[in-house]
Amino acid sequence: MAKAKLRLDKSSLITSDLIRKHDPVSGLAPDPGELRERTAQLALILDLAYQGFAGQQPAAPIVDRLAGRLHELRREASPGVWRQLIPLAQEHRVAKYLLQDPFTRWSFEKPRGYSGDASLLDIYYKHPSAAGIVASSSALGQEIYAYTSDAPSSVAGRERRDILAKSVDETANRIDQAEILAIACGHLRETELSEALARGKLKRWVGLDQDPVSVAVVNRDRAGNVVEARDGSVRGILRRAYSLGTFDLVYASGLYDYLPRAVGVRLLQRSMELVKPGGRFLFANFSDEITTDGYMETFMDWPLLLRSADDMWDIINAAVDRNVVEAEVYYGSNRNIVYGTVRKREA
Ligand SMILES: C[S@@+](CC[C@H](N)C(=O)[O-])C[C@H]1O[C@@H](n2cnc3c(N)ncnc32)[C@H](O)[C@@H]1O
Repeated sequence: MAKAKLRLDKSSLITSDLIRKHDPVSGLAPDPGELRERTAQLALILDLAYQGFAGQQPAAPIVDRLAGRLHELRREASPGVWRQLIPLAQEHRVAKYLLQDPFTRWSFEKPRGYSGDASLLDIYYKHPSAAGIVASSSALGQEIYAYTSDAPSSVAGRERRDILAKSVDETANRIDQAEILAIACGHLRETELSEALARGKLKRWVGLDQDPVSVAVVNRDRAGNVVEARDGSVRGILRRAYSLGTFDLVYASGLYDYLPRAVGVRLLQRSMELVKPGGRFLFANFSDEITTDGYMETFMDWPLLLRSADDMWDIINAAVDRNVVEAEVYYGSNRNIVYGTVRKREA
């Protein structure tokens, strides 16, 4: 599939190449003995999945076992060895079955040129705009999709969208004519769930994204109300390149998963400059407790920077003076996503 040209600002590691360049283990030669042993383990795992598909067994248990085994292998292997296993998995003949799943295929092929684009999220959000992509997949692809779109990480991603909409609604209950900013807004699907927006209680809901296609989708779908998307990158925010004013709620969802710690710290600092006194910044990150990591990194070619609650506190503590803010870190209901909030005290 042709990849649309998009200039990535490189402050977010949204391709596996960018992650690899940033990764301290890349370039280190893995232990040959361990590599041989893990390669054999991987081959067994993938052959079993292949035999299941070839024997027309039900797809969900095949993919469930495969994902669980890849998770274990990723955890047990040294990082340098795991890195070498990824292309071996991607080249295995079982991929021809897995890539029939529209979710896995979109993620692997990256039609927008980077991982985790907003259309991919629409696929696991089960959004009507993705119905055609799902319906045009093979029967096996749809069967695998029924599993992958209900995997714990996908459930957590849909809950994240609900949490964003609720956070906007809570802000609107607290403040008349609240102003909201979404950094890396994608298709801003949480606008569809917000009661405050539906009832006209917001002054403005601004979205920024590096991808002009996503910006255009938001402006098309939400035309005629207070929602407005603009071209904008993390790098631009770090450079204070935009005149945005200030907001009662600023949030970044589906972004910190691609930000190295130093960029995450600086983004939090800049974001707090955009928060009004009494307002807050909310950020989310897939947690290091997810069990779909091995499947995502191999067959979806979708590596994420996973974080724990301690990692979120580490970012918060490095970014802000805890005497002038109130901060909180909590997990979503299945612990696949961890959230941080930083409230700026009233002046
Ligand atoms: C996983 S999607 C999240 C979309 C939305 N926030 C959500 O939670 O549904 C990631 C979005 O981040 C945007 N993005 C990634 N890196 C970015 C950067 N450096 N600057 C601006 N946007 C970025 C992508 O274009 C994409 O729309």
